Amino acid sequence: MSADARKTAEGLSYLTGFGNEHSSEAVPGALPEGRNSPQRAPLGLYAEQLSGTAFTEPRAHNRRSWLYRVRPSAAHPAFTRTGNGSIRTAPFTEAVPDPNRLRWNPLPEPAPGTDFLSGLWTLGGNGDAAQRAGMAVHLYHANASMERVFSDADGELLIVPERGGLLLHTEFGRLHVEPAHVALIPRGVRFRVELLDESARGYVCENYGAAFRLPDLGPIGANGLANSRDFRAPVAAYEDVEGPVEVVNKFCGNLWSATYDHSPLDVVAWHGNYVPYVYDLRRFNVIGTISYDHPDPSIFTVLTSPSDTPGLAGVDFVVFAPRWLVGEDTFRPPYFHRNVMSEYMGLIEGAYDAKAEGFVPGGGSLHNMMSAHGPDRETFDRASAAELRPQRIDDGLAFMFETRWPVTLTPHAAGADHLQQRYDDVWQGLERHFRA
Ligand SMILES: [Fe+2]
Repeated sequence: MSADARKTAEGLSYLTGFGNEHSSEAVPGALPEGRNSPQRAPLGLYAEQLSGTAFTEPRAHNRRSWLYRVRPSAAHPAFTRTGNGSIRTAPFTEAVPDPNRLRWNPLPEPAPGTDFLSGLWTLGGNGDAAQRAGMAVHLYHANASMERVFSDADGELLIVPERGGLLLHTEFGRLHVEPAHVALIPRGVRFRVELLDESARGYVCENYGAAFRLPDLGPIGANGLANSRDFRAPVAAYEDVEGPVEVVNKFCGNLWSATYDHSPLDVVAWHGNYVPYVYDLRRFNVIGTISYDHPDPSIFTVLTSPSDTPGLAGVDFVVFAPRWLVGEDTFRPPYFHRNVMSEYMGLIEGAYDAKAEGFVPGGGSLHNMMSAHGPDRETFDRASAAELRPQRIDDGLAFMFETRWPVTLTPHAAGADHLQQRYDDVWQGLERHFRA
């Protein structure tokens, strides 16, 4: 943490547009023109392609970038196993899948010197990382900047800060991420996390499946929800560091470490559409009813990772952003429901309109497949009696990772001291009102 880092973070410029074909060079002339791999790349750089999709996937979904770097990524020694800390990976088989509704308080304080990687704590997930299907829910709580560099071969990382700003140093350049923003780091992209405050806390969705993309809009039209132009990619910036740098690689569930003789964040120029992004959730264009009922919460989808079945997401990232409620003759909070999809919810700030208490920033809840949930008693009573004037919901920012398969917990999440013990009580006392 330093004042210089914050100044750097706040002064960054960006390229804009999700999925665009971007290009950037930190040194003029570093980017070759007219071809990707000239006989000799400019300025003595090495050309290297990073493929996020198979070469042959449809053009609309194909993601790859060309990097022009001081040394090729291949120039590294062997990786050896290192400790996984509190990181776990699918398939999650250590705990019995739990049908109960569960809720956690925030992670406890980390030990001094905990960086983003050692502060990662896996709650659970589904699928199989080696099959590139499913997802994991992690939380992090860190109080030190990373001196090492990390990359995740198992999936892309959607970082959702809840407390503390981050300066992400990536191969593609730097991103500034604050609470109410999210960062998306593609699979395999190397980065390190510098803290901009005393500590940093938040959530991470590790998506093993197809890369997140913007959802189709259907009858909504050409605009709305998260707009492409609000996603910001970094401009090229490189570290010219000679000397030992630890690089940690997550591969099929285990962490592997190698000590390079240089920083791998040495990309001087790049072009392509496989890039990290930062997005301000307050830019989300919230759409809802202007007549009655409210649409299903899929209307709040920011990003989706599609599966092989149309409309069935491996995981959706959904945000409950400030909005107006105007529905007439409508129970306005989220309705009672049971869902074939499984829902992990977190809270970035404020309160959530279906829970009067107990769901706190930095905490989270899990409503697994077909578990019954909805407003708590207090919320139900209040909303059932409320005068239905236009009402602005502006004191909270909640989100959801909604996934096609049940989330199985890690043993440390199932047995955590910060797992709330009487979450079911939320739905106690919902009185019988029926009169035949
Ligand atoms: Fe739900």
